Amino acid sequence: MKFFIDTANLAQIKEANDLGILDGVTTNPSLMAKEGIIGKEAVLKHYTDICKIVDGDVSAEVISTDYAGMIAEGEKLASLHENIVVKIPMIKDGIKAIKYLSSKGIRTNCTLVFSAGQAILAAKAGATYISPFIGRLDDISYDGMDLIAQIAQIFSVQGYQTQILAASIRNPIHIIKSAQMGAHVITSPLATIMALLKHPLTDSGLAQFLADHQKANA
Ligand code: G3P
Repeated sequence: MKFFIDTANLAQIKEANDLGILDGVTTNPSLMAKEGIIGKEAVLKHYTDICKIVDGDVSAEVISTDYAGMIAEGEKLASLHENIVVKIPMIKDGIKAIKYLSSKGIRTNCTLVFSAGQAILAAKAGATYISPFIGRLDDISYDGMDLIAQIAQIFSVQGYQTQILAASIRNPIHIIKSAQMGAHVITSPLATIMALLKHPLTDSGLAQFLADHQKANA
């Protein structure tokens, strides 16, 4: 399972990349705005800066919601760097745009996926990735992990090549269960990736080892 970081914060992207386990980055307009990246040129430069840090797929989201606009934006974003994956919303024109871009060899990530039906449509259109939003489903009392399991089963039965990118990750259990259920990728905030490291028995065990070593070598 690939690990992507879900942020536009360059320091956090560097920190995750330095861990040696990072396979890519996802962003969205909210994450770009949070970092104060405002205006078309600044946004394009920021994607280029991210691509300089990480040798892996970088999802860059379109702002347009009409077919022609998404195509124009998608082609511009894809021309920035070979690792750019164009992120397209799960709407009618989005499906058409995914079909067009994939026919031109431009990789896509279909975002805002909340149902298996949407996932099937995006896979049929040739999306490279689909992004089901786990946390946002949990927020409305639907188990987001159930959706990952359902999509994983469908894609396996149907032999779809589209990769399941579990998004809107809120805790380490989301990451572990995504791995169990066969998600191809998770995208997560840095804090949640780092939370995978933690276990109190690791900390107390290491403290004991070091104390015993110190006593024996005093
Ligand atoms: O990038 C899409 C997704 O990961 C957003 O997550 O936490 O805003 O629901 P969140």
